[in-house]
Amino acid sequence: MILITGASSGLGAALAKCYHNDNQQVIISGRNTTRLDAIRQGLGANICAITADLTSAASVSALFDQVELVQQTQQAQLRLHTVIHCAGSGYFGAIETQRPEAISELLQNNIMSAILLVRETVKRYKDQAVNVVVVMSTAALSAKAGESTYCAAKWAVRGFIESVRLELKGSPMKIIAVYPGGMDTGFWPTSGKALDTSSFMEADEAANMLKQALVSSQHGYIADITINRG
Ligand SMILES: NC(=O)c1ccc[n+]([C@@H]2O[C@H](COP(=O)([O-])OP(=O)(O)OC[C@H]3O[C@@H](n4cnc5c(N)ncnc54)[C@H](OP(=O)(O)O)[C@@H]3O)[C@@H](O)[C@H]2O)c1
Repeated sequence: MILITGASSGLGAALAKCYHNDNQQVIISGRNTTRLDAIRQGLGANICAITADLTSAASVSALFDQVELVQQTQQAQLRLHTVIHCAGSGYFGAIETQRPEAISELLQNNIMSAILLVRETVKRYKDQAVNVVVVMSTAALSAKAGESTYCAAKWAVRGFIESVRLELKGSPMKIIAVYPGGMDTGFWPTSGKALDTSSFMEADEAANMLKQALVSSQHGYIADITINRG
């Protein structure tokens, strides 16, 4: 069973479609119940949708309580084996033009959501073979003018997950870091940045590449994935 956050839109929704088409049991999560339900209905049978705001520890805990309820109603072989964290948001502009409330929301949606989600996953499944896939951005790898606070958020997440990886040394749980480039999703309109994204990757394209890259064998796994825009 795979839990996908940020699945009410963009990359998360596209990944849910990929895995569902591959006959995998998928649980999708997002904040907006209407959008999440529309994705669930579009996919059809065998999809469970759970609304959660990942900036709240109580909401993250309730999400995993529900995941465990779903697991209990499934056969043992359908245990949770992968969590893909796609939730996040953008906010851009020259630093002197950025509003403190919007910066705070950006940091919450990107940093706190990742910290709380990974914290809860580790707490519950540290001793199990669960792959935790954390989607960041190429903005976590290099500096970008006009994207200072977004880069700060994604660099923070990178520092966080690389540190948790060290804490998980010897554990069957693995953290997989994903750094995508520009995708043509709802991310840009909600970020407030007016941009021509017609040459960006479609969410389906990026999701297909990511799914192909997320492979592991008995003694190895792909740990870091960068998906560059061509
Ligand atoms: N699009 C790009 O060009 C691009 C490039 C590199 C990296 N990324 C990163 O890739 C990830 C996915 O982006 P996308 O393009 O698919 O964006 P998107 O279409 O805007 O989708 C973002 C998703 O995150 C969810 N979300 C945001 N804040 C949340 C919160 N506090 N709690 C729970 N869910 C929350 C949204 O839920 P609701 O809509 O239900 O609120 C939505 O499902 C993000 O981390 C983004 O930073 C995007």
